Amino acid sequence: MESLAVDSSGSAYNQAKMLLEKSLNTLIITGAGISAESGIPTFRGENGYWRNQSVEELASAEGFAKNPRLIWDWYLERRRLVNSCKPNLAHNILAKWIEQKLWTADVNLFTQNIDDLHQAVNTLNTISMHGSLWRNRCTKCGLERQEMALDYSKLPLSPCCQALERPGVVWFGESLDKKMLAKAFLTSVKCNAVLVIGTSGLVAPASSIISTARTVGAKIIDINMAQNAVQADIQIRKSASDALQRILF
Ligand code: OAD
Repeated sequence: MESLAVDSSGSAYNQAKMLLEKSLNTLIITGAGISAESGIPTFRGENGYWRNQSVEELASAEGFAKNPRLIWDWYLERRRLVNSCKPNLAHNILAKWIEQKLWTADVNLFTQNIDDLHQAVNTLNTISMHGSLWRNRCTKCGLERQEMALDYSKLPLSPCCQALERPGVVWFGESLDKKMLAKAFLTSVKCNAVLVIGTSGLVAPASSIISTARTVGAKIIDINMAQNAVQADIQIRKSASDALQRILF
């Protein structure tokens, strides 16, 4: 496939803008980078590790079985951080654009983020693929509930089974919700354009949803501060808010 443009020049912005204006079915994929300007650190990159352990170790059922307190402390720390952060310009621009665009076209946003910042600005058609920081799940029956607690003196027990609760998120090695996945892949094979924002492109299924869309002919626009693993037709190496301001309005 011919590359449309590979820089952050005016022409890359204009081509991205034209593509998105024409697209009748658009898929948006976001990752940790869109929340970076809200003050939430990304997973990978310079500050990509926490307490010298890899995300893969912390975000796993094995990690939780080994040391539930450590894992809960990590998630509670993230709850407190997110609680003190606000959605940034990029979240706001996207929410406004999707609302307007939905009068004339299909737009669906799949985020890998668990911070719910897209939902905080009422972004329509948004699905959090990896769950939410603000949900607890019963380790016995799997029932989830919303939970806003920022600290636990004792680890939480579920109201349903009185069993230990875990964060209501998807961890490495776990399957995502089947219906949600089906919708994501169905969208990827039908869409004309994919707008990818702030992801390393290293984690499935987001990475394979993007590559599936590309294989069946969709144009990929990638906004990222740095080089990443996303194969795109238009690469814009700028912050999410800078780029979205230029492209969407
Ligand atoms: P990563 O931390 O892997 O990647 C974040 C990307 O955002 C990097 O490529 C950065 O260059 C880019 N970035 C940073 N600041 C930016 C800005 N202001 N504007 C635009 N881009 C910026 O995060 P994800 O790709 O979201 O999964 O990670 C995917 C999954 O891996 C996460 O959902 C999480 C993680 O382990 C689970 O916990 C299951």
